[in-house]
Amino acid sequence: MILDSVRMSKYEQAISKVVKSTDHVVDIGAGLGPLALMASKRTKNKVVAVEYIKELADLARTLLDPNEIDVLNTRSYDVNLKNIPDVIVTETIGPIGPEENIVELSYDIKNKYPSIRDFIPGRLKLIAQAARSEIVSLQKNKHIDTVIGFSDLSENRFFLTNLLDSYYCDQIYQGDMSDGKSLGDKQLIVEYILGATKSSEFSVDLIFPTDQNWNVINIFFSADMGAGITLSNYFELPLTHWLHSYICRPESKKNKLRIEYDSNVNQFEIKWY
Ligand SMILES: C[S@@+](CC[C@H](N)C(=O)[O-])C[C@H]1O[C@@H](n2cnc3c(N)ncnc32)[C@H](O)[C@@H]1O
Repeated sequence: MILDSVRMSKYEQAISKVVKSTDHVVDIGAGLGPLALMASKRTKNKVVAVEYIKELADLARTLLDPNEIDVLNTRSYDVNLKNIPDVIVTETIGPIGPEENIVELSYDIKNKYPSIRDFIPGRLKLIAQAARSEIVSLQKNKHIDTVIGFSDLSENRFFLTNLLDSYYCDQIYQGDMSDGKSLGDKQLIVEYILGATKSSEFSVDLIFPTDQNWNVINIFFSADMGAGITLSNYFELPLTHWLHSYICRPESKKNKLRIEYDSNVNQFEIKWY
């Protein structure tokens, strides 16, 4: 997302600090190549931009200077590089974190080229925090009311509301919870070391405060870009194109949550108990 100025500026800062003038840099998942372009300003070597969608790779080729950037239309898993890379830049981060396979593709390239010095980002953490957000409450109520409005059983409102509430709260949504107030501590869900962690799969049990006030869990990533630079979609930070990922607390006021991620199908399973 080239229009996401927060994201662009974090990558620019990190690339300018981490990439040296003699480095061979590969941008995995280059899209139109904005990150490859940033890297090409820092190294005297040609940057390699790897993009598996043909239309994007073709467009990138027409936009970028072939003397500075080589665009390869292939999957990173199949790439055959002329020069051993020193630095991998990749923005294959999903709204929750691992959905675009950043963990698996980083592991694969490091396995092929063990001397890679730096990944930008180098680490990716997923974190959860309870909060109170009126925007999230309104959104949930609007959704439930709309569905009940469709139903022939709308006279059975109490039963349907409970059913739809528990269904709604078993999903992760992307939206705006920037009015939120944090309640309770941040809890680590999982930490990936890019290049070293093989699989993004996880299963975690989280316990939140028993008090009645919070209504949502913000699930956010925190990407360590190197040189002290962090990119995150935490709800208290400036909004990014990833928006805020959150899970609503059910009206039953349960406070224990199991989150499982299956990396084979890129799916999250949510269970309140
Ligand atoms: C979120 S976009 C980022 C594009 C660009 N780097 C940017 O920062 O604007 C991720 C891109 O990675 C590509 N991609 C994802 N996994 C890939 C892989 N294993 N090999 C090559 N391209 C990949 C997708 O097709 C998509 O264009």
